[in-house]
Amino acid sequence: MSQAKPLNIDFVRSQFPGLNEWALFENAGGTLVPQSVIERIGAYMTDTQVQPGAEYEASSLATKRLETSQQLMAEMINASPEEIVIGPSTTMNIYVLAHALWPWFRPGDEIIVTNLDHEANSGAWWRLAELGVIVKEWLMDPETAELEIERLADLLNERTRLVCFTQCSNITGSINDAAAIIRMVHEAGALACVDAVAFAPHRALDVKALDVDFYVFSTYKLYGPHLGILYGKREHLLRARGQNHFFIGEDDIPLKLIPGGVNHELTAGLIGIIDYFETLHRHHLGDGNAALHLRLAELFALMADHEETLARRFIDFIDAKSQLRLIGRKTADKTQRAPTFSFVVGNRDSREFPRHLLKSRVAIRSGTFYAQRCVDALGLGPQNGVVRASMVHYNSLEEVDRLIAHLDEVL
Ligand SMILES: Cc1ncc(COP(=O)(O)O)c(C=O)c1O
Repeated sequence: MSQAKPLNIDFVRSQFPGLNEWALFENAGGTLVPQSVIERIGAYMTDTQVQPGAEYEASSLATKRLETSQQLMAEMINASPEEIVIGPSTTMNIYVLAHALWPWFRPGDEIIVTNLDHEANSGAWWRLAELGVIVKEWLMDPETAELEIERLADLLNERTRLVCFTQCSNITGSINDAAAIIRMVHEAGALACVDAVAFAPHRALDVKALDVDFYVFSTYKLYGPHLGILYGKREHLLRARGQNHFFIGEDDIPLKLIPGGVNHELTAGLIGIIDYFETLHRHHLGDGNAALHLRLAELFALMADHEETLARRFIDFIDAKSQLRLIGRKTADKTQRAPTFSFVVGNRDSREFPRHLLKSRVAIRSGTFYAQRCVDALGLGPQNGVVRASMVHYNSLEEVDRLIAHLDEVL
């Protein structure tokens, strides 16, 4: 491995045409895209906006681009292309998955979901209660917003078939020890469906290292177009019931789980995410010929260091402000959190803070962020949820200082 330079933030920022005088801290909602993504989508629409799969030139080039995208998404997370379901969003992917797994369940079987999760990895599973499946809730501690592993141990039993939980909360930014939880789930004879949506923009992904059964993330939060990716272990996808037309065979993965097929131009745009990562890798770490997911692990380590620096600055500010209650872990430690911060200020209406920051061109947001059950459990509904400031590697320390200075004015 070459000697790593720290993340060159000017170089990073030069890749994103959408960065401007606004300091953008709404990244957990969606990230900007680098020029490479725009170019890949544009190129697809310029040269290959035809139906793929035929033999004429534009069509076969379109097919090639879609296959490349599928291949790269698989390599990015250390999976095989047939294990990658590309859909419109994570919510839709889990909805389709829940329907596909329907025949696996018998009345009295149990599924565990959490109340820390975004609704995407919860609501679709709750619906299976209509089949007589018992849906149990792994409740977070309402004081700390932590999912305690001991509580999961109490819920697991021989009827547990599936445990659905988040690797990183989109509210607290806390990183859960997914590998340890998955091990425990497997020891109980169940499968794990892990939401990596809030994790993927910050840390490298490796489904084999986790030994995860189902894994989901959204590429519009990973510097790409508005799509979602569902990984499933090959054996599980083969056993799941197809959700596509009757003539799409049960062995035709992943197509049998992509009703309507993929959005072509956006799928081609996914290649641009990898172009961007490759550009950053080359700039900081040289070419290297290790597998893509390993090179990304090196690159994301640099991003994590930078994020930790941003997080430390914000945590220092919070530490000095007793009226501001941070939800979740009060640490900048990159092994413990992503730089997504949610907080409330006394009983004040959370909507006040993003509004105040508008004139300073600092973008944050308030609300429940579709983690309704979490916000309800925290008792923060009456004040319109939490205020959330979420950073990614393209944010600068100067932007965090602006955020802090203008927040300070309203505390
Ligand atoms: C943690 C988490 N999971 C799932 C989702 C849902 O993703 P999508 O919008 O792709 O359905 C989100 C979106 O905000 C999220 O933050």
